[in-house]
Amino acid sequence: MAEAVLGTRRVLTGSAGRAFRLDVVATGPSTTAEAGDSVARKAQQDERPIGPTGRPYQGFPTPPKLESHGPARIIALCNQKGGVGKTTTTINLAASLADYGRKVLAVDFDPQGALSAGLGVQTHDVTTIYDLLLEPKRDAHEAIVHTAVENLDIIPANIDLSAAEVHLVNEVAREMILARVLRGIANEYDVILIDCQPSLGILTVNALTAAHGVLIPLECEFFALRGVALLIETIDKVRDRLNPAIELDGLLATMYDSRTLHSREVLDRIVEAFGDRVLETVIGRTVKFPDASVSGVPITEFAPEHPAAQAYLRLARELVARGAVA
Ligand SMILES: Nc1ncnc2c1ncn2[C@@H]1O[C@H](COP(=O)(O)OP(=O)(O)OP(=O)(O)O)[C@@H](O)[C@H]1O
Ligand SMILES: [Mg+2]
Repeated sequence: MAEAVLGTRRVLTGSAGRAFRLDVVATGPSTTAEAGDSVARKAQQDERPIGPTGRPYQGFPTPPKLESHGPARIIALCNQKGGVGKTTTTINLAASLADYGRKVLAVDFDPQGALSAGLGVQTHDVTTIYDLLLEPKRDAHEAIVHTAVENLDIIPANIDLSAAEVHLVNEVAREMILARVLRGIANEYDVILIDCQPSLGILTVNALTAAHGVLIPLECEFFALRGVALLIETIDKVRDRLNPAIELDGLLATMYDSRTLHSREVLDRIVEAFGDRVLETVIGRTVKFPDASVSGVPITEFAPEHPAAQAYLRLARELVARGAVA
């Protein structure tokens, strides 16, 4: 079995000449460098198409239609490393799940407000997540904004949230405030995605305390694994002390560039370290994401046929297949 790059798609061709499409975004011109990579070697051994994580490639079925909605499973997208794709994944996974008929709430939990901007929601003079944290008696519905995407709502954030660390420090049960806020609205959604800020401070601990699951995006570059041990240690502590039910839903490799040996080596290392906890869906590197963010819409709306949009739809199907989402 040989591996080749055709256009923007990476394919494995079997001995019978059948082509298996992989939902990996390969950008730019094709190269022959991949022919000798470890993925192809593994594929040669067992004659089955192998995905970029080194496991046999499988499609995931279209999620069944839901007859009723809620209560939501809450998933925190977390990594204290900056710029790894937390916000991009929150936006596009949320839109993909909404596309499959799930009622989705995205919570912007980063004072940078990138999630709000990426979904085209204005953050000035509106009720934000910060207001709900500070006034727990306030009705959370006041902060919910419908986005241009059907089935997708958001609770926005702005720079005010940066004061939360200081304000919450003397609160009783300060780690549980977000959990209490979301309790009031969880029945109306199938899934709530929390876009965390790049730190392990009180806000992130609030997100982990509110969550049923954690999704860790990892950029496929040299320092990807740096800090992941500390993040997992933090999740373990939260499980011990605050939220016994929290699960690690998976690690998601992002910004993968199949043309570079570096990207492939880093992905191999991530799989070596975390095995099956690494999601099979891998998000490729493409300039379409910054383009879509500037337009304030998910890539599934901006360029629905683009392999990157297809990759996030596959991620949504994989999470449903794994039971992480209804
Ligand atoms: N798959 C991708 N290919 C190319 N660029 C990407 C990809 N995913 C994200 N980006 C870009 O990388 C930058 C960082 O992404 P993003 O904001 O999603 O990361 P983050 O983890 O939320 O960052 P922060 O820690 O600052 O909140 C953004 O400019 C985004 O458009
Ligand atoms: Mg972000």
